[in-house]
Amino acid sequence: MERDLTTSEPILRLENLHKRFGPLEVLTGLDLDLRAGETTVVIGESGTGKSVLLKHIVGLLRPDAGSVYFHGRRMDGLSERDWVEPRMRFGFLFQLSALFDSLTVGENVGFPLTIHTRRKRREIDSVVAQKLAMVGLDGLQAKRVSELSGGQKKRVALARAIALDPEVILYDEPTTGLDPPRADVINELILRLRHAMRVTGIVVTHDMASAFKVADRIVMLHRGRLIFDGSAADIRRSTDARVQRFIEGRASAEDLEALHQRDEI
Ligand SMILES: Nc1ncnc2c1ncn2[C@@H]1O[C@H](COP(=O)(O)OP(=O)(O)OP(=O)(O)O)[C@@H](O)[C@H]1O
Ligand SMILES: [Mg+2]
Repeated sequence: MERDLTTSEPILRLENLHKRFGPLEVLTGLDLDLRAGETTVVIGESGTGKSVLLKHIVGLLRPDAGSVYFHGRRMDGLSERDWVEPRMRFGFLFQLSALFDSLTVGENVGFPLTIHTRRKRREIDSVVAQKLAMVGLDGLQAKRVSELSGGQKKRVALARAIALDPEVILYDEPTTGLDPPRADVINELILRLRHAMRVTGIVVTHDMASAFKVADRIVMLHRGRLIFDGSAADIRRSTDARVQRFIEGRASAEDLEALHQRDEI
């Protein structure tokens, strides 16, 4: 599946996004352009709005102010009904996999096809087998999701996310909770989808090994805006203390001070 990547128009544009939940300001004027075919990694502290950002891209949340464009089309004001077709062009790997535990692996992966297409049972089965093969799990169709390991669940969720051959895949912490070799299987799948299917990827992660492996570009979200935007090499050279602390996994001076004051250690 070759895609025309020659246009310079970003596939996605987020402009001056603002979002608050009651008194909590989460996005405070976020701007981000995403180029087709690239994998952009989004890092940032827990609770900083990374999942909220992804949900704005697929219209699961609406901004209080600002705009979302997909292929130049304004999306944030679309009705739920008008979102149905464009949403099929996105694959969403949710933070907690969000599989249906009571269904089989095959039913889970085939779910988007059952809901959104008129394909016949046999065709759906064949797509399910193909997608499961892509994530290395063909043959597990009849297993219940509740019988799977965490790593297998992530791969089933990924197979489901690619069931409709999306142009863009949003990965919300795809490697969290996996041991390093299993996390690396997910990294390899992200790279394979990017190279074989020219998928545009957005990967939210805390896992810096994963970030460095899959990113064409890394952005860091902090207090509702981007404080870093550059390559993996650039981020290693960044002199911003907040960025360095994050990528090296060091607590801030204020956090350490707070711990000492509470006499917790
Ligand atoms: N639907 C909602 N209603 C109210 N508050 C919300 C909602 N969704 C998110 N929030 C709040 O917005 C903030 C950002 O949440 P978000 O899930 O985007 O964080 P995150 O950066 O993905 O964190 P983590 O790394 O822990 O997943 C949090 O304080 C969260 O409690
Ligand atoms: Mg999150």
